[in-house]
Amino acid sequence: MKRILKCVKCGREYPVDVPRYRCDCGGLLDVKITKEKKDDFSHLKEVWERRKCSSKPIDQSGVWRFRELVYPFKENEIVTFPEGKTNLYKLPAYLLDVRALYAKHEGENPTGSFKDRGMTIGISFAKKFGYKMVICASTGNTSAALAAYAARAGLKAVVFIPDGKIAFGKLSQALAYGAKTLQIQGDFDDAMKVVQEVAAKHKIYLLNSLNPIRLEGQKTIMIHTLEQLNWNIPDWFVLPGGNLGNTTAFGKALMELKEFGIIDRVPRLAVIQAKNANPFYLAYKNGFKEFKPVKAETVATAIRIGNPVNYEKAKRSILYTKGVVEEVSDREIMIAKSQIDRLGIGCEPASAASLAGAKKLRKKGIIKKEDTVVILLTGHLLKDPGATTDFHLGKMEGIPKSAINMPEKIENDPIKIEDKIKEILQE
Ligand code: F0G
Repeated sequence: MKRILKCVKCGREYPVDVPRYRCDCGGLLDVKITKEKKDDFSHLKEVWERRKCSSKPIDQSGVWRFRELVYPFKENEIVTFPEGKTNLYKLPAYLLDVRALYAKHEGENPTGSFKDRGMTIGISFAKKFGYKMVICASTGNTSAALAAYAARAGLKAVVFIPDGKIAFGKLSQALAYGAKTLQIQGDFDDAMKVVQEVAAKHKIYLLNSLNPIRLEGQKTIMIHTLEQLNWNIPDWFVLPGGNLGNTTAFGKALMELKEFGIIDRVPRLAVIQAKNANPFYLAYKNGFKEFKPVKAETVATAIRIGNPVNYEKAKRSILYTKGVVEEVSDREIMIAKSQIDRLGIGCEPASAASLAGAKKLRKKGIIKKEDTVVILLTGHLLKDPGATTDFHLGKMEGIPKSAINMPEKIENDPIKIEDKIKEILQE
């Protein structure tokens, strides 16, 4: 197989093993994989399956097990925990009136989000290129993953996060794993601008999803899910959209799987944005004629992004898969989250946008009763304990009482405790 970096705007090509984030024309870059005559992909599914029985980290990783479509690193070149061994759950029918509903839980990765799948390849590249320092802008999860993988590789890490509006679980991870954490006055979009300037000036490797290498790892979310479904292709794959890295990666994964004869049809992507952080939705609504950044605000701080860097590539994914883009309110997100939480599965607010969006699309008849649907859960429940406790303490507006599980104070008095237990038993 041959790999080159290719500009999605002007088509110019660059070597893949020289660090680069954008084309000289300013366009986004893709890792273009070309199949060569000697490549035989007819047994790839079996090869991937067989590796599950190996105890080597490179085979145990849910990213590197699919290395033919990620990057041909040698075992000693990769930085892995290993990541990507995440579950696909069948969800109960009452959540959505469809043939079958599944949740792919990327919150089960080592640092609690899907970002680990991009960071294992990103940090392996940083090492390969001889970088001593890595950097990112983040709404929280990228910074947590970057900090952890940099620590594992012995690299210095700097993360730029928005001042305030970052969930506590994520902030605590960046600090604990030892990243230099810079809280910039401004939001994620401001931080994103700053890190691109810093990385252009210094020898520091930039690991946002603007970096096309990172997305090669994130493609494995799609590949792994299809494998877990025994390669029975679902009708829909529903995911939250922020900086649109996953949207880009999933479209690219599907194009490659189809081109290389591993699948013969593709699911439709449904990208869900929060109502006040919805530039991709607005562009979709006008037929992608125009893209305008917005000032983002939402309880789902992970996707509080108004100017997604991957817009052009994400648009391509929607067009390729005949996908759709939907928006949901913070209230819809939090109610959907409480339903996922109640199953004992749990997720952070941004993840629940996918269930909230699937419900909305089902109501509109876009997702049909006979469809099989996979929703992506991007982050672990403990990432944002503040949002969950605010919800259950009744601090959020418009939430039905039945969804709230308020803690009760009780005196340390045996009679009162006995009465309470009897009351709970009868509920
Ligand atoms: N869900 C979670 C939990 C996220 O952390 C993110 C992005 C998304 C969804 C959106 O994914 O950017 O691929 O569209 N978080 C980034 C960060 C921006 O900095 O952690 P996307």
